[in-house]
Amino acid sequence: MAKTETKILFILFLVFLLESLGSAQKNIIEEENLSEFEGFDDIYDEDEDELFELWKHGRGNKVLVNVDSFGAAGDGTSDDTKAFEDAWKQACSKRRSVFLVPPGRTYLVNATKFNGPCDNGLIIQVEGTIVAPSEPENWDPKSTKAWLVFNNLTGVTFQGNGIIDGSGSKWWAASCKKNKSNPCKSAPRALTIDSSSGIRVKGLTFQNSQQMHFVISRSDSVRVTGVKISSPGDSPNTDGIHISESTNIVLQDCKIGTGDDCVSIVNASSNIKMKKIYCGPGHGISIGSLGKDDSIGIVNRVVLDTAFLKGTTNGLRIKTWQGGSGYVRTVRFQNVQMEDVSNPIIIDQFYCDSQKPCQNQTSAVEISEVLYRNVTGTTKSQKAMKFACSDTVPCSHITLDNVNLEARDGTAEVYCNSATGIIAGYVHPEAECLNSNDKKIEEHNVHDEL
Ligand SMILES: *[C@@H]1O[C@H](CO)[C@@H](O)[C@H](O)[C@H]1NC(C)=O
Ligand SMILES: *[C@@H]1O[C@H](CO)[C@@H](O)[C@H](O)[C@H]1NC(C)=O
Ligand SMILES: *[C@@H]1O[C@H](CO)[C@@H](O)[C@H](O)[C@H]1NC(C)=O
Ligand SMILES: *[C@@H]1O[C@H](CO)[C@@H](O)[C@H](O)[C@H]1NC(C)=O
Ligand SMILES: *[C@@H]1O[C@H](CO)[C@@H](O)[C@H](O)[C@H]1NC(C)=O
Ligand SMILES: *[C@@H]1O[C@H](CO)[C@@H](O)[C@H](O)[C@H]1NC(C)=O
Ligand SMILES: *[C@@H]1O[C@H](CO)[C@@H](O)[C@H](O)[C@H]1NC(C)=O
Repeated sequence: MAKTETKILFILFLVFLLESLGSAQKNIIEEENLSEFEGFDDIYDEDEDELFELWKHGRGNKVLVNVDSFGAAGDGTSDDTKAFEDAWKQACSKRRSVFLVPPGRTYLVNATKFNGPCDNGLIIQVEGTIVAPSEPENWDPKSTKAWLVFNNLTGVTFQGNGIIDGSGSKWWAASCKKNKSNPCKSAPRALTIDSSSGIRVKGLTFQNSQQMHFVISRSDSVRVTGVKISSPGDSPNTDGIHISESTNIVLQDCKIGTGDDCVSIVNASSNIKMKKIYCGPGHGISIGSLGKDDSIGIVNRVVLDTAFLKGTTNGLRIKTWQGGSGYVRTVRFQNVQMEDVSNPIIIDQFYCDSQKPCQNQTSAVEISEVLYRNVTGTTKSQKAMKFACSDTVPCSHITLDNVNLEARDGTAEVYCNSATGIIAGYVHPEAECLNSNDKKIEEHNVHDEL
């Protein structure tokens, strides 16, 4: 009897101990700076349908500035650049304008800068198709990096069911990624919103861009909803949405299939929120690359909530070059489903997208406070999770909370180099390598909690 009682007491004690440890661990997770993300859901509530319909019915005293009225042919072969420039001048300078690209037609437009400042409340309504000239040889050598650039705008809305088509196929064929005997040259980005704030982008479709489809740079408060992006999975450097030096960016309900990152977030960007993102084909959702050529890279406060990735070459990726400095901090990936994704979860501090190999260095972009929560699905590569961190600048506070990634043949595994963190809930494959590296730090914390 005494023996059994002791046993029961011992089991009860174990249960108690495990529970305390569990709650201590939970506290550690909650302690992370998740408060940074408070109010995350509020930003999606606003109803914009009224604004969306305004242009059609002429309500709100909107003044239509139709590119056709400025001599655009809309036949897909005549050069409509001048008509777009003239319509822009008028729309930008007058109050309550709607710059209209009407439906059912295709407008051929050269590399063009649409400069602000314009009147607040300008609407750019794209219903038809805007195409780029397809021949790289005829491209204006002064603007090799950009096709349509919108610059210095505040309070402007881009919307409509239209298409921005980069006609990229000849650019892709000329890429050094396609054929190593080609010179490595940059190609235009289809649409850039630069040095702007208070921008909304709603419902547009981007396709076949020469390189990146949609770039948001040096901007603040940009909200992108319901955008579709589509290019072949083998089109080189055709990132879907690229965010650089920008703050307070929201991407929601976007469906992206392309030949490079579906979303890439680079230097000097913070408060980036992504919700309901579909990605595939593509290279996944990436922070970076950062730290190339020994540069400073800083990305802070990124959330991805609810995403589906299918057949991508990476899933949730942070990529930095050896020799860089700066940091990636406070990142949350949650409610993500993957299907046949290679490298579903990957931190790669040895990123080297260059024709010559990169040497390991002592300096690196520091990565910490990255949370993966409720990430499930199938991995195509054996390494379902890869935390390849710099020997001299380890990754820390990596948290896995309910992550379940399975390989078709059941051999999925986790790789860690110089990475520490904590594991909560059910995590498969076992990520002990993350935990064990962190024993000293976390045991200390747990002890303090108890
Ligand atoms: C949270 O933020 C505080 C202050 O910004 C910082 O000291 C701390 O290291 C951060 N990380 C964690 C895991 O608490
Ligand atoms: C941007 O707009 C502001 C006014 O809003 C103006 O002062 C400034 O010169 C503009 N900058 C550029 C680069 O056009
Ligand atoms: C558009 O580009 C073509 C080819 O370079 C050039 O001939 C044409 O003049 C450009 N159009 C305008 C309005 O600049
Ligand atoms: C690559 O380019 C070279 C030179 O332009 C050409 O001879 C070769 O056929 C190309 N290779 C492929 C695979 O297209
Ligand atoms: C990254 O941004 C910081 C400012 O936040 C700047 O000092 C640094 O030069 C930028 N790095 C690159 C590669 O542009
Ligand atoms: C986990 O994420 C999936 C979406 O990928 C979602 O449907 C599900 O509700 C989430 N589970 C929890 C417990 O939040
Ligand atoms: C760089 O360091 C990593 C981690 O220690 C190692 O796996 C890799 O082989 C090294 N690469 C080179 C080029 O030395």
